[in-house]
Amino acid sequence: MRAVRYHDYGGPEVLGVEEIDRPDPGGHELLVRVEAASVNPVDTYFREGSYEPYELPMTSGSDVAGVVEAAGEGTPGFEEGDRVFATGLGRDHQGTYAEYVAVPTDRVAHLPENVAFDTGAAAALVSVTAWRALIDHAGLEPAETCLIHGGSGGVGHAAVGLAAATSAEVLTTASPDYHDDLADLGADAVFDYAADDLEERVAEYEPTMILDHRLDEYLDFDASVAVQGARVVGIGNTQSAAGWENVPAARGKEIDLHLMSMFNTPDLATVLERIARLLASGDLSIAIDRSYGLEDADEAQRAVMEESFLGKVVVEP
Ligand SMILES: NC(=O)c1ccc[n+]([C@@H]2O[C@H](COP(=O)([O-])OP(=O)(O)OC[C@H]3O[C@@H](n4cnc5c(N)ncnc54)[C@H](OP(=O)(O)O)[C@@H]3O)[C@@H](O)[C@H]2O)c1
Repeated sequence: MRAVRYHDYGGPEVLGVEEIDRPDPGGHELLVRVEAASVNPVDTYFREGSYEPYELPMTSGSDVAGVVEAAGEGTPGFEEGDRVFATGLGRDHQGTYAEYVAVPTDRVAHLPENVAFDTGAAAALVSVTAWRALIDHAGLEPAETCLIHGGSGGVGHAAVGLAAATSAEVLTTASPDYHDDLADLGADAVFDYAADDLEERVAEYEPTMILDHRLDEYLDFDASVAVQGARVVGIGNTQSAAGWENVPAARGKEIDLHLMSMFNTPDLATVLERIARLLASGDLSIAIDRSYGLEDADEAQRAVMEESFLGKVVVEP
């Protein structure tokens, strides 16, 4: 089969399409024929070696949607021919930019018939991240006011949809090009993150929960706009969290800070099942900006880190 692998850490140029053996699934793994994979910033962190994968050479890619090619006694609930989607690969298991991937059953769920494969792949990691941040960490409730920084991003736009599905009041920030789209996805108010009066305007809404993908940049801002005791969930890399107790505004507001990693989600398969229901019902929509072939996976990863677009980029074998 064809797979996009790297043998050494480095820039997108270390990725190459290779002909390798199909994976041989273990007892609790499904062999999945890949219909679509999606591209996330974390794929580039593994590739460049800032988060090391467990082995080299490694096939890139965390997310997948496809069809079960082989299932067995150790994979109850799944049969050959089932449509599935999964995430959390490309780190301790070989990744998804390939024609086939072995997927442990603790990180896979059925993909409803009315959800396209590219949507399933694009949804997986970002929707689980949004779920874990908003629901598991922050316990977001209906009629609360939440702020989602970077609403046009993969995680951002999934979080806007998920927060709207919980009937929270949803505030988000994005470049002006995406404001209409984000209103369509469920945002009640959208602000330009570069606006001079951003802080003042957001503070008027008194957010009780904030999803922050750039804590280094917005830590002080969050403490300034949020209500006393608000929950802030930080998902991006940060230096500042180590010195969080030294941030006067945050201390004064008694901000309840959570840091999280999608890869540590305790019951990933159950969260994916919930995401599948929201996708099937139309309560959660995932935007796909464009698709690349395996041979252009290097370009897809470059685009994710350097270009601006709404939602996600996928790779299809
Ligand atoms: N902890 C976890 O489990 C976890 C899981 C997933 C992702 N992450 C991290 O979360 C971050 C976002 O991931 P992603 O997949 O959503 O990435 P993404 O799709 O590349 O989105 C990043 C977003 O940030 C926006 N942005 C750029 N500059 C900004 C600014 N100054 N203020 C506010 N927003 C700004 C961009 O908007 P424009 O295009 O309009 O500039 C873009 O929409 C990454 O650092 C990723 O590694 C962490």
